[in-house]
Amino acid sequence: MTEAILLVGGKGTRLRPLTMNTPKPMVPAAGVPFLTHQLARARAAGIDHIVLATSYLAEVFEPYFGDGSALGLHLEYVTEKEPLGTGGAIRNVAGKLRSAPDEPVLIFNGDILTGLDIEALVDTHRTAGADVSLHLTRVEDPRAFGLVPTDPDGRVTAFLEKPQTPEEIVTDQINAGAYVFNRSVIDSIPAGRPVSVERETFPGLLAAGAHLQGMVDSTYWLDLGTPQAFVRGSADLVMGRAPSPAVPGRCGDRLVLDTAEVAPDAKLTGGTAIGAGARVAPGARVDGSTVLDGAVIEAGAQVRDSLVGAGARIGARTVLDGAVIGDGADVGADNELRAGARIWCGARIPDAAIRFSSDQ
Ligand code: GTP
Repeated sequence: MTEAILLVGGKGTRLRPLTMNTPKPMVPAAGVPFLTHQLARARAAGIDHIVLATSYLAEVFEPYFGDGSALGLHLEYVTEKEPLGTGGAIRNVAGKLRSAPDEPVLIFNGDILTGLDIEALVDTHRTAGADVSLHLTRVEDPRAFGLVPTDPDGRVTAFLEKPQTPEEIVTDQINAGAYVFNRSVIDSIPAGRPVSVERETFPGLLAAGAHLQGMVDSTYWLDLGTPQAFVRGSADLVMGRAPSPAVPGRCGDRLVLDTAEVAPDAKLTGGTAIGAGARVAPGARVDGSTVLDGAVIEAGAQVRDSLVGAGARIGARTVLDGAVIGDGADVGADNELRAGARIWCGARIPDAAIRFSSDQ
């Protein structure tokens, strides 16, 4: 097992406005672009050749990661002219793979934070003699996910769309976004048109009698597709709850990059990450949040479970709770933004303009 494909070409619409200027895998989590954590974990599992399947904002990946040697990897990049979907993207990079037809290739969604035992997934694949193996995770509320039931031997029996009624919830196992494909299966995906691996390739393989094996691994797993999940994932990385060899510093309550300036009486808690060149003024409190490079949190502001974009400014005494502030936005003093509020990149909100309560 030596090579992997990483799918990093999605538009990341659920994460807007953070993904207006930056593709989702390049948004910093715990101080480095999220993708760095995935690359470092893959390397630690013995993978040395990774092909990045890029599409949306494709041009930003290579200048940052180059040939991958800084991470001990050999990285290659393949860009789709038009987005090809997950399956189309996998097929589109086939020409860069070195594996023989019966050898396993790992494939990862570019927005999953997980403690998955990658080597165990490959072992399961080999032992079962499967064509494709999938990491499955159990979730408390499977209604938002496609379900993947398995038989007692772990063999996948169906791919079910999001369940609509309680009777349709036949399992709590969902597709966790990490796969092992035999190389020959990758080559059999139709080329040159959009294909969804979840909706077309997997059900098609099953119908054709292929062996799809599921491995339930209930370690840490989070899909960082939404702002709430992204902030949670970054905080879990900072606190060491989610494993990554790429967190730049010791795990703890906070991570402050070298060139950030934090006032001595500012309080940073709950896995807060403060980016390079950012500034946190006296009396500010930042809890469980991600503050990106060059952002400013003014005096007495309170920021909780929120994401503050690069170069954005949060005015004095302003309260953020579960909010996303786009790059370069300017939120004046004495505002209150809660419950999923999204402020677009570069927007300006005057002082005392928005409140969710009558008190001042
Ligand atoms: P949303 O728009 O918020 O749903 O996010 P997304 O665009 O990332 O879609 P989704 O989360 O379903 O994608 C799963 C994984 O596949 C992510 O890692 C995406 O980057 C990747 N992906 C989705 N569509 C494409 C595509 O057309 N091309 C490539 N190369 N990757 C894709």
